[in-house]
Amino acid sequence: MTTFGRFDDAAREYVITRPDTPLPWINYLGSEDYFGIISNTAGGYSFFRDARLRRLTRYRYNNAPFDMGGRYLYVRDSASGEMWSPSWQPVRAELEDYRCRHGLGYTVIGGCRAGIDTETLYFVPLGETLEIWRTRITNRRAEAADLSLFSAVEFCLWDASDDATNFQRNFSIGEVEVDDGVIYHKTEYRERRNHFAYFACSAQLAGFDTQRDAFLGPYRGWERPLVAESGRSGDSIAHGWAPCGSHHVELSLHPGETREVIFVLGYWENPTGEKFDPSGSQTINKTRVRPVIDRFRNAGAVDAAFQRLRDHWESLLDTLHVTTPSEHLDRMVNIWNAYQCMITFNLSRSASSFESGIGRGMGFRDSNQDLLGLVHMVPDRARGRILDIAATQLPSGGAYHQYQPLTKTGNDAVGSGFNDDPLWLIVAVAAYVKETGDRRILDELVPYDNEPGSESSLYEHLLRSMRYTLDRLGPHGLPLIGRADWNDCLNLNCFSETPGESFQTTENRQGGVAESVFIAGLFTLAAGELATMAEVHGHRHDAAACLDARRTMDAAVRAHGWDGAWFRRAYDYFGNPVGSAGNQEGKIFIEPQGMCVLAGIGVDDGKAEAALSSVEAHLATPHGIVLQQPAYTRYHVELGEISTYPPGYKENAGVFCHTNPWITIAETLVGHGDRALDYYLRINPSAREAISHQHRCEPYVYPQMIAGKDAPTHGEAKNSWLTGSAAWNFVAATQWILGIRPDHDGLRIDPCLPADWDGFTATRRFRGARYHITVRKSGGLQGRLTNLVVDGQRIHGNLLPPVPRGATVTVEAEIQGQT
Ligand code: BGC
Ligand code: NOJ
Repeated sequence: MTTFGRFDDAAREYVITRPDTPLPWINYLGSEDYFGIISNTAGGYSFFRDARLRRLTRYRYNNAPFDMGGRYLYVRDSASGEMWSPSWQPVRAELEDYRCRHGLGYTVIGGCRAGIDTETLYFVPLGETLEIWRTRITNRRAEAADLSLFSAVEFCLWDASDDATNFQRNFSIGEVEVDDGVIYHKTEYRERRNHFAYFACSAQLAGFDTQRDAFLGPYRGWERPLVAESGRSGDSIAHGWAPCGSHHVELSLHPGETREVIFVLGYWENPTGEKFDPSGSQTINKTRVRPVIDRFRNAGAVDAAFQRLRDHWESLLDTLHVTTPSEHLDRMVNIWNAYQCMITFNLSRSASSFESGIGRGMGFRDSNQDLLGLVHMVPDRARGRILDIAATQLPSGGAYHQYQPLTKTGNDAVGSGFNDDPLWLIVAVAAYVKETGDRRILDELVPYDNEPGSESSLYEHLLRSMRYTLDRLGPHGLPLIGRADWNDCLNLNCFSETPGESFQTTENRQGGVAESVFIAGLFTLAAGELATMAEVHGHRHDAAACLDARRTMDAAVRAHGWDGAWFRRAYDYFGNPVGSAGNQEGKIFIEPQGMCVLAGIGVDDGKAEAALSSVEAHLATPHGIVLQQPAYTRYHVELGEISTYPPGYKENAGVFCHTNPWITIAETLVGHGDRALDYYLRINPSAREAISHQHRCEPYVYPQMIAGKDAPTHGEAKNSWLTGSAAWNFVAATQWILGIRPDHDGLRIDPCLPADWDGFTATRRFRGARYHITVRKSGGLQGRLTNLVVDGQRIHGNLLPPVPRGATVTVEAEIQGQT
């Protein structure tokens, strides 16, 4: 077994102790407008708001080594002529005491070579559109050291897609300015851009470079730049080709001396009328940006900004803190899973080691689900996001599958007609209202398709979401699937025979009757949520209609969605069952077992129990629950992309970490505390840290997928960070295992614990009050709440009554094990 690091829970950091992790283990910088990804060896890139259209620095995806392009530093020892990178990459010279501490919104990377220790803190100050690299160099030798420090970034020519393709133009347009030691990257500023990038340094410069080929030298890569090797900068000015930014700082350090050098890499927009100085020239007007640069070249300002960032995260995570017998649950809930939820909220599915930042905007379905995991931390931002998403909804109640973060308008770039999409809006709004009690959001006027004049209340949007499903029912009374449902790859109307054709955008064949049992489950859940919102909002008739529709759908699922021992997955174009014992491959799928039980279908008549036993028998593995079985071994034209993947990968029987928590929740609904925690821990990243060599992705965040049992690489994770797995695992652990669950009239305490737990404690901020919760369980058996005492008063049921904002409430809950 090989380990690559350890958790430091007190510091809320993951400490990587060797640089050659199986894959780059990344972190994110920034939380508002300016973002970056950063790997444990300083790889990655930065962008302003949109990872495609405002990309500051260049990154080479799918490279060898995997992680190429970054925030690089080179140290050169004048006496020996030796040169190395304190982040190991890109030079890869051996380091002593290599360490990378990934923290919340910052990363520290350091290492020592030949008695010279270099450590850099990277972060984005709150409220700024820039990043800081604060480097501390210490001479641990007995004698003085003469050193050179070189910084290096490669500028991307803004549009990351164009930058990677349009060389006949791009090699001629690159432009920079160097003024008072600050490097300005101004490609296309002469025409329609009013933004530029800059790269500044706090120290006196011995030189600089802005032309990549001058810095690297002919036929050299980033691992052996000529300038860093020779110790002399070229003072090059880029004209076309590939603009880069490099500063050269000379340092003479006494034995034991530490020096600090600050680099500032930033993005700036000038008002259109004030782009140039003097006006009429083509020179960037620096009067507005210069004070910002000067402020952050100062150590005091950097320290204060870093402290503010730490306080910010401290206060976000303070919303919920739990202490349970499981260190893995505690660590994920208290730190990393909450953090990942914030990152997915900020980045959607745009920029990671697996998402290029070019292809995907904000998903309608994805963004709604992401809200479930963070509404308690940032309710105001969740509110804004809900209104943004709803404004992209179509008048029919349907949805664009995605929208662009810069313009907030919907687009069809990744297809449309995913018939589950509209229902997720109901689920997200319900979560928001339950958390905040803010029912006024339902009255907010929101347009359709961003069309001014088309506004209706958000509540009406939700009714249209429901109607969208009801207007599209198939012969069994189940919802038509459209292009696909949650499973993007179950393309029952596509019938693609053309190599390379996209399953997500190709025109569907008309006239079929493909229905989704998963959407039926989701509809049942959403109809229940909407009924309650209608009720509390004073719309009795709507509430009754929702409950009616819910009953009818529930009955349709029992009649036509039940296969005998589990819920079927779908009916195909021709009306044949998918996910049925009668199928040769794909007999049982995870999604309907999770979603139907979650919606309450079959909980009272044994179907839920039976379905969950089938999941355990056919789908569960030590590495999580696979999506379906048996995996498809050949291409099925009537099923689509799902059967294109080799068995065990992705939607073809991979472990989808997004769906596993649905089963965890379902198990709590039927009272199985042991199984719920067991499933939760099988994919818990911290619990898998011990098998990092096999899991390979970061042990501090969820991946989308772990290779299933049909894959030769069973247990290997892929697609870490930007996944709905973050929100749903958080919900499963906190609201269903621990049972601390917001509801319309207050906070509910409804734990479902495993037999060997004797309880847990938690603090939860909820609607302005702070709850100190102690749960005690007697008897070894799993069980449910029997006694609830609030501030010394015994109360009936499991709902904590509302208290004034600012109140502190002590909650003691008792659970007696069942026999
Ligand atoms: C992937 C899905 C993804 C879809 C849309 C498919 O190839 O397997 O997970 O949602 O593409 O981009
Ligand atoms: C990834 C997509 O982002 C998500 O929306 C989808 O549900 C899963 N793939 C499953 O196909």
